[in-house]
Amino acid sequence: MGKRILEIGCGYDSFFHDFKPGTARIIAVDSMPVFLELAKFTYQSLPGQGKVEFRHEDASRLPFGNEEFDEVIARHLYSAPSIYVKLKGASPEQWVKEDAHFSEMSEAQQHDYLREHEGKWLEELRQITKEAHRVLKPGGRLTLVHDSGRVPEDHSIKMQTRNRIRNVMEGQKGFSQTIEKLDSTNLAKIEEVLGYQFREESEMLAHLRGQRESGIKSTVDIHVFQKMMK
Ligand SMILES: C[S@@+](CC[C@H](N)C(=O)[O-])C[C@H]1O[C@@H](n2cnc3c(N)ncnc32)[C@H](O)[C@@H]1O
Repeated sequence: MGKRILEIGCGYDSFFHDFKPGTARIIAVDSMPVFLELAKFTYQSLPGQGKVEFRHEDASRLPFGNEEFDEVIARHLYSAPSIYVKLKGASPEQWVKEDAHFSEMSEAQQHDYLREHEGKWLEELRQITKEAHRVLKPGGRLTLVHDSGRVPEDHSIKMQTRNRIRNVMEGQKGFSQTIEKLDSTNLAKIEEVLGYQFREESEMLAHLRGQRESGIKSTVDIHVFQKMMK
């Protein structure tokens, strides 16, 4: 009955859109209940709904057995603001406020703010990556999608702010170096697509299946890792 796919940190509107009914069994998890409620609401209005199981779970402590999934996908989860939500125990309302507060800071203040918890942030990502590795079948893939930092001309201010956050956090060095810090995962990088432009976000999956198209609405980096075969 198709592949078994796990999306971690699905938020209220993410990859679960992209799977056609019957092609895969999908579990989408998030640690914030309110986002899951919204995700279910969004999903109910999609054609072919009923194929995704939404669950309130923490990606750093997944309640699944070893080697259960063919793919694990995370979009915009491996970023400081996403992780801080959990580390700081913030409610969605606090998060929105904090996000606004953050946007108003100077770059130097943002830098300090993010550095304050960098160790914890990386530790959390290591734990999440370890769990993704554990639940993947040998040969299974972990796909990370991340804002690219390359802003197309017609891009919104919001996107530019996000990229600024990313650049501040990662010292302009790029997401690849953050990933390198998540060592000892036993995952081999098999593909890296930098600055991929999607006409629609739903093109991501087409891309991951090898059908490249280009557009201008969203620009992301995609990193695909494979769990070593035994
Ligand atoms: C920036 S949002 C991205 C949401 C969605 N994937 C997207 O691309 O629109 C990050 C999400 O990760 C979730 N998150 C953060 N830490 C998590 C954890 N440890 N386990 C599960 N979800 C987590 C947050 O609640 C939030 O919904």
